[in-house]
Amino acid sequence: MKALILSGGKGTRLRPLTYTGAKQLVPVANKPILWYCIESIVAAGITDIGIVISPETGDEVRNKTGNGDRFGANITYVLQDKPAGLAHAVKTAQPYLGDDSFIMFLGDNLIESQLDTFLNDFAQKQLDALILLRQVPDPSAFGVVTVDATGKVLRLVEKPKNPESNLALVGVYFFKSIIHDAIAQISPSFRGELEITDAIQKLIDTKQKVEASELEGWWLDTGKKDDILVANQILLDTRLKSQNLGEVDSASNISGRVQIGKGSQIINCKIRGPVIIGNDCHLEHAYIGPYTSISDRVTIVDTDIEHSVILNDTTITGIHQRIVDSVIGQRVLMKVSPKRPQALRFLVGDDSQLEIM
Ligand code: TTP
Repeated sequence: MKALILSGGKGTRLRPLTYTGAKQLVPVANKPILWYCIESIVAAGITDIGIVISPETGDEVRNKTGNGDRFGANITYVLQDKPAGLAHAVKTAQPYLGDDSFIMFLGDNLIESQLDTFLNDFAQKQLDALILLRQVPDPSAFGVVTVDATGKVLRLVEKPKNPESNLALVGVYFFKSIIHDAIAQISPSFRGELEITDAIQKLIDTKQKVEASELEGWWLDTGKKDDILVANQILLDTRLKSQNLGEVDSASNISGRVQIGKGSQIINCKIRGPVIIGNDCHLEHAYIGPYTSISDRVTIVDTDIEHSVILNDTTITGIHQRIVDSVIGQRVLMKVSPKRPQALRFLVGDDSQLEIM
């Protein structure tokens, strides 16, 4: 059994962060989303992992994630030349996958459940495909599945305008190698992609054994800014342990679960957990409220921040309004202008979003 993690794609919904980086490397609770996927797979006993990467962000994913040693896995990178769909990614990875069965995991999805039970079901029932489902309020944004009263999968449609059910396909699938034959028989959809839903439908039409299981626990598809904030909140809530490897002065007040990394200095701050602060940060006269993740080498002075994710090497000083519900990228500089007339001055990348009072 192998695993295939899809870490290519366009990431249009997460611009501007995805102009310069892979969305799967955006950190939640200071760890790249992709790494949670790798850890779930390794926890289920699968260590032979292929990661599909794109020409634009592949080097970053490879350099950051490495050969798998840090996870106790063996990682092979598979370059997909264009983001032509999930089934196209599997087709590209066919030489790596060979005749093995495999788990396919979308590299921007996070699930709470362990994979073992599903793996056992998939093996014991000798299924050709096992798909995971979840009831969602807005199914039209997802692959939507219709099942009959016995749970048998009848139909799958990718992002339908008029969904037949409220059961969305979660981004984790189990396949036997027969999926490659199904992919060979499908054509690109109206949006020009080879859809994995069409390939699974082909398995159903040719009477292969396809079953669905409903996922319990949380499932997060981190394709958009607000999803990242929700993922960050849930992971800080459920997995953060208090630890202080930095320096906190006596004027600071820390409550709740707070993790502070090596070389970080906290001076005259109020921090209310759950909060994670990376290495070599400088926080001075700041309020850091619940559900905030601050990556490495971040400086925050005279500023209040809450329920936000701040990436590496960013500096925020003297902002007199509280920053909330924000994802702030790498190397960003936010400061109070020393110049007159008092005014807002920006150098903001394409597709950025600013909400100013
Ligand atoms: P999506 O989120 O469906 O697609 P996307 O990454 O292009 O994002 P957007 O809709 O915002 O433009 O992809 C799900 C996962 O699969 C994600 O981790 C990217 C990956 N992927 C590939 O590796 N190759 C592909 O061809 C596609 C479409 C996605």
